[in-house]
Amino acid sequence: MIAMITGASSGIGEELAKNLASRGFNLILVARRAERLKEIKENLTSLFDVKIKIICADLSVTSRCKHLYEKVKDMRIDLLINNAGFGLFGRFEETDLDRELEMINVNIKAVHILTKLFLRDFSKRNYGYILNVASIAGFMAGPLMATYYASKNYVLQLTRAVSQELKENKINVYIGALCPGPVDTEFNRVAGSEFTIGGVSASEVADYALNEMFRGKNVIIPKAEIKALALAAKALPSKWMLWGTYFAQKARRGDPSEK
Ligand SMILES: NC(=O)c1ccc[n+]([C@@H]2O[C@H](COP(=O)([O-])OP(=O)(O)OC[C@H]3O[C@@H](n4cnc5c(N)ncnc54)[C@H](OP(=O)(O)O)[C@@H]3O)[C@@H](O)[C@H]2O)c1
Repeated sequence: MIAMITGASSGIGEELAKNLASRGFNLILVARRAERLKEIKENLTSLFDVKIKIICADLSVTSRCKHLYEKVKDMRIDLLINNAGFGLFGRFEETDLDRELEMINVNIKAVHILTKLFLRDFSKRNYGYILNVASIAGFMAGPLMATYYASKNYVLQLTRAVSQELKENKINVYIGALCPGPVDTEFNRVAGSEFTIGGVSASEVADYALNEMFRGKNVIIPKAEIKALALAAKALPSKWMLWGTYFAQKARRGDPSEK
């Protein structure tokens, strides 16, 4: 069995790699930081009897996503995990446009491209797994992190829609969305923010996500409190959610209105 994980150089992606290696998967690890990927490869091959290939790619560049697919398409990958992604904190009018376009490329376009290209192959084979890492942010609008929340809405809704298409056409391919709340990773350092509630460990999230994926669950939300938040986002008036999310985000370090 072979799994390809994007954003495997840290955080949730690194823990998904560890967990899958412990289950006997051979791995293709993708990210930009070559040194980090090499360290992870050395560590995992010393612990488990698995083969690991590393590919350095900047997924904010559309042609690199297509090139990545071309490079691995004949390897009979069983599981694709679209995990690479990042956030950016700040008021929409003040956040850097180029950084946001980069985010849209990684969080949305790369996920879109790889999902489509792999799904075509998996559908032909009538077998395969695609796990897209969305977020609890995918259930709501996120003032002060507007682009990030919108990007995760895209990932969640795209994944749900494709999943329904597969079910209706009786195609035996799994596609699901992982929607965690706060997880202790490098996310905050990159986004320029801090969580207002404590994060869970990335290894816990990875283990829960993979168990739920292999059970066939399409929307995977680790932790009861975060499931409750997803339910609240559906049940409460959207004005209340917007207000609540704004104040929760404002409490994060880096609030530009407090500078
Ligand atoms: N942490 C949270 O609270 C949380 C909650 C919900 C969802 N998520 C989602 O979980 C996913 C993983 O994030 P994380 O929390 O584990 O953060 P992280 O530790 O910062 O990991 C992000 C990963 O994405 C990769 N990446 C970023 N930009 C990339 C690019 N242009 N090309 C290729 N790879 C790129 C990074 O690798 P390089 O820098 O080496 O390229 C890194 O491996 C993201 O999609 C994030 O939105 C996180």
